[in-house]
Amino acid sequence: MNKKVVVITGASSGIGKEAARLFAEKGYFLILSGRNEKELEEFKDKNAEIVIGDITFEEIQNQIVNLIKNKYQRVDILVNNAGITYIQPFEKNTKDQVDRIVETNLKAPIFLTQKIYPIMVDQNFGHIIFTNSTAGKEPKLNHTLYSATKFGLSGFARTLRLEAKKHNIRVTSLHPGGVKTKLYDNVDPKPDISTYMDPKKVAEILIYLAETQDLSPDEVVINRMAK
Ligand SMILES: NC(=O)c1ccc[n+]([C@@H]2O[C@H](COP(=O)([O-])OP(=O)(O)OC[C@H]3O[C@@H](n4cnc5c(N)ncnc54)[C@H](OP(=O)(O)O)[C@@H]3O)[C@@H](O)[C@H]2O)c1
Repeated sequence: MNKKVVVITGASSGIGKEAARLFAEKGYFLILSGRNEKELEEFKDKNAEIVIGDITFEEIQNQIVNLIKNKYQRVDILVNNAGITYIQPFEKNTKDQVDRIVETNLKAPIFLTQKIYPIMVDQNFGHIIFTNSTAGKEPKLNHTLYSATKFGLSGFARTLRLEAKKHNIRVTSLHPGGVKTKLYDNVDPKPDISTYMDPKKVAEILIYLAETQDLSPDEVVINRMAK
């Protein structure tokens, strides 16, 4: 089998969905995950395996790993993309919100990577991409929890990279600014996202980085031109 295999979490919406469409156009085998089954239906006839469920559950992470091991026997790219946000003054955050965002944005990508990384080590190639954020590079007002998870994810990626290089595994953190997606649907008050970036354009950069050979795109910041 010559085709490449890409895993994308949070493929049912926004940046992840656009990336899945672009990888599909390029003929990759896809393993896509998200909770919203309807939003993933378009991929069913596109060489895609769909894993429906909460990515914070070990059972869902294991379903992804079992597909890699049993169906494809390889994995080229892991895009840890699923994420949520809360934007509010620090004191308004509940314990449940702290748990939820740490589970989704930080622990799930660490645990999924921990399961897939040994397969990449054995095959002596692979590329792990994290959809981070500019909020993982600089503080933003009312983003305490989100920034905590994205700074944490950045530290994880930067440190993993030191170990991964000798196994021919690349580790990339993508740090976009505001992107026009459903990420903000539950934020109250909802920010004006009309000038935010097109998720397809961000996904195009992600694909470019994934396909680039012989160099290691470590951290890429993408800002919008419009104010
Ligand atoms: N939008 C921005 O301005 C922006 C900027 C920088 C970075 N980012 C990052 O980009 C990534 C993608 O976000 P987006 O902007 O494309 O937002 P989005 O349209 O809301 O997409 C988020 C994706 O994550 C999935 N997801 C969230 N929680 C999940 C869970 N517990 N289990 C499984 N899937 C889960 C969602 O799937 P379901 O709804 O099907 O569960 C959805 O597919 C996130 O990591 C986000 O932090 C976004």
